[in-house]
Amino acid sequence: MPTTAEEPGRAARPRVAVLFGGRSSEHAVSCVTAAGVLQAIDTAKYDVVPIGIAKNGQWSLVDADPASWSLRSSTLPEVAVSDDSVVLSSQDGSSELVAHGPGSLPRSLGRIDVVLPLLHGPFGEDGTLQGLLEMADVRYVGAGVLASAVGMDKHYMKVVFAAAGLEVGPYEVITDRQWRRDPQACLARAGALDFPLFVKPARAGSSMGITRVTDPAQLPAAIEAARLHDPKVVVEAGITGREIEVAVLQGRGTQDPRTSQPGEIAVRDGGHEWYDFEAKYVDGAAVDLSCPADLPADISARVRDLAGAAFEAVGGEGLSRVDFFYTQDGKLIINEINTMPGFTPVSMYPQMWAKSGLPYTELIDELITLALQRPTGLR
Ligand SMILES: Nc1ncnc2c1ncn2[C@@H]1O[C@H](COP(=O)(O)OP(=O)(O)O)[C@@H](O)[C@H]1O
Ligand SMILES: [Mg+2]
Repeated sequence: MPTTAEEPGRAARPRVAVLFGGRSSEHAVSCVTAAGVLQAIDTAKYDVVPIGIAKNGQWSLVDADPASWSLRSSTLPEVAVSDDSVVLSSQDGSSELVAHGPGSLPRSLGRIDVVLPLLHGPFGEDGTLQGLLEMADVRYVGAGVLASAVGMDKHYMKVVFAAAGLEVGPYEVITDRQWRRDPQACLARAGALDFPLFVKPARAGSSMGITRVTDPAQLPAAIEAARLHDPKVVVEAGITGREIEVAVLQGRGTQDPRTSQPGEIAVRDGGHEWYDFEAKYVDGAAVDLSCPADLPADISARVRDLAGAAFEAVGGEGLSRVDFFYTQDGKLIINEINTMPGFTPVSMYPQMWAKSGLPYTELIDELITLALQRPTGLR
């Protein structure tokens, strides 16, 4: 049964709104993450209020049972549209959730101390939700408005990384206006990069809308496919290298960000040429996730330093996963930062921390602790 109000006598526990689902194409992935977190979060320490966001954007109080949100073979979990909506309301520095239903008076679901947004993609990971939470004056886990927005955008994150001295691969940006005004010029620019190309929506995730292009004739269709997710498209030269990832966790107080042991994603031969959606979520046998990655000690140390630098470059807070290509000639080229990385118990981010001495339940606890210590507003 959903929690409907604060349990009397236990009000001292911080109340955590676990927010998941959402409007992006990664809705189901977010629900699966929520299943993992609801299963593992320390309920002796935190009073958990599960809030689902339906695909139409409606917020409602949902079932706290992790089984309702876990991935079953044939059906993807989804937050249903409900009769009762929930809104965040804030007054004098304290926030509460209020339920509204047809024909009933609004009723309070009690105060909220911190929001744990388990949302991926636009309207969750991109600063919009973070802005809403700032406006409502409620603390939340993870990156703030700017870091979220920059980390969501594969164009601007490259601009910021390059300015911070990190190496990014060759790329071209195709805005909506440029594409509609002069597609030939866009194709010429993109086609001048070294093939294969990776054509991507600027702001998506889970490999959705990405096409690997080996022939210039495929480029227009790949751009249109990316544009189904985002009117802004990023075209990148394909980089040959091992995919190495590092989990970054904000330091306590004035400490530097903490970095995990690096992990590696290796797509097995056959079937998948790159780490596409199927390889990520459907065909588990297609990839090997390993941590620690088998790297020389100096490269391991260097990639951790670069991951910390990438986190600082975007103004990261809370958590981020930073992904690199490690090339044959020893370069570490940054691919992307994810400010809300995959966060199921078997996802890379929690796995890398588990292998680095911080198990899942403690990781969740640490993230909430960091968020509770951090006020909203300019900081
Ligand atoms: N420039 C590139 N060169 C080689 N492989 C790439 C490149 N860009 C993306 N890929 C492959 O596509 C996958 C998904 O791309 P990525 O940019 O990480 O998007 P997402 O945000 O959806 O994870 C990567 O993990 C990698 O396997
Ligand atoms: Mg990625």
